[in-house]
Amino acid sequence: MSEEFAAVVDRVRERVTPDADERERLRAATDRLVERTEAAVADLSVDADVILVGSTARGTWLTGDRDIDLFVRFPPDLDREALETYGMDVGWAVLPDGREEYAEHPYVVGEFEGFTVDLVPCYDVADATAIQSAVDRTPFHTTYLEDRLDDDLAAEVRVCKAFLKGIGVYGSDLKTRGFSGYLTELLVLEYGGFRPLLEAAADWHPPVELDPEDHAAESFDAPLVVIDPTDPERNVAAVCAAENVARLQHYARDLLADPRTDLFEPPELDPLSPADLRAALADRGTTPVAVRFEAPDVVEDQLWPQLRKSLGGLTDELDRRGFDVFRAEAFADESAVLFAELAVAERPAVERHAGPPVHVRDHATGFYEKYDAADAVYGPFVDDARYVVERDREFATARAFLDSDALLDVALGAHVETALENGYDLLVGEETATLAESFGTELARYFAPRP
Ligand code: UTP
Ligand code: MN
Repeated sequence: MSEEFAAVVDRVRERVTPDADERERLRAATDRLVERTEAAVADLSVDADVILVGSTARGTWLTGDRDIDLFVRFPPDLDREALETYGMDVGWAVLPDGREEYAEHPYVVGEFEGFTVDLVPCYDVADATAIQSAVDRTPFHTTYLEDRLDDDLAAEVRVCKAFLKGIGVYGSDLKTRGFSGYLTELLVLEYGGFRPLLEAAADWHPPVELDPEDHAAESFDAPLVVIDPTDPERNVAAVCAAENVARLQHYARDLLADPRTDLFEPPELDPLSPADLRAALADRGTTPVAVRFEAPDVVEDQLWPQLRKSLGGLTDELDRRGFDVFRAEAFADESAVLFAELAVAERPAVERHAGPPVHVRDHATGFYEKYDAADAVYGPFVDDARYVVERDREFATARAFLDSDALLDVALGAHVETALENGYDLLVGEETATLAESFGTELARYFAPRP
């Protein structure tokens, strides 16, 4: 059993470890890249140094990953605007065919000798607690880990990253809300390897708090808290969602009980066709509804929190109006979709509306008089000790609600709200089958859910 586990890890390690040739190519490309960046920096009227950070600096990248993270460190007294300007100047000089990306400030991403380079300006602060911009911590992460990760632990980190990718929880982007590279490295370091991490995770009772440098810092409200060894005020796992911690726990148990390499690769799903989708819906007897609109032109890290918020707002309101949401999900490519599968899509023309207990005299009398005078109301009558009326329901079908302006009153992300104001397509029941043309893979996953 333990031998089986070791054999699986050996095979994965083989697969994800870059060979000598790949290391050499990366080293040579990085040398030329650093040289070119230093030359661009020399043209500025300010001193700055160039450092390699991230997994390629630490020897923890997975074979085939072609991502180089290069930082240019500017003096801390440089104002933010100058940092951005100089940063972009260097970025465009080194990567003239690149594109602008935006995190806390803009930076350039581009190709260099077949590698994807993130060229990011930051401040050269004394330590990570003195950061002026979120990315200023990154160089400290690299120093911290370089001193502690030997080749064996780096190999364990690679295996762990492959596992997290395989089970769909690797990445601190706001679509995934999973485990970042740095978090993975800290976890493997803290537990002393991949297997001990899995054994611990299998028994975690969130909230789980790890504090590698015993900062005994403030408390954070999150299912997983890993105090940044370089900055006591930072939870490295801040974006990691409870569901992804739970997934890690599930698959940790699964892998320990039944070691196999297929958990280290994301499952390949056949996209659902419109006919498959119709068949799945007929089988389940639910009513799907979908609101489809042009995807707001914002970066993914802005889009996904807004889609999640909008989906939450929509499903809450559907539930409140009596259209019970069975399950829901957002999809996005050029268009964005709020998809909800309803257990109830149609309600009677009337709804029950309970008033105060009769003994609460003032409120009760107010309620009674208001509805006694109203047309088209059944009641008021007494049920238990309360006044109750049965009045017209505003929307008897989910379609009528989704087709109305009331849709725009639900809690929506700002850009989603604007997009919906500009118009949207409403799909109900079998009409949603057309979504399979663009989101066949997402829908395949939706109808074959796994942990
Ligand atoms: P990357 O996302 O490239 O991560 O960020 P990585 O560690 O190099 O891992 P892979 O192998 O490419 O997936 C580069 C560095 O930026 C900092 C970390 O120090 C990371 O190593 N970073 C990135 C953060 O501190 N937080 C984040 O959410 C992302
Ligand atoms: Mn990286």
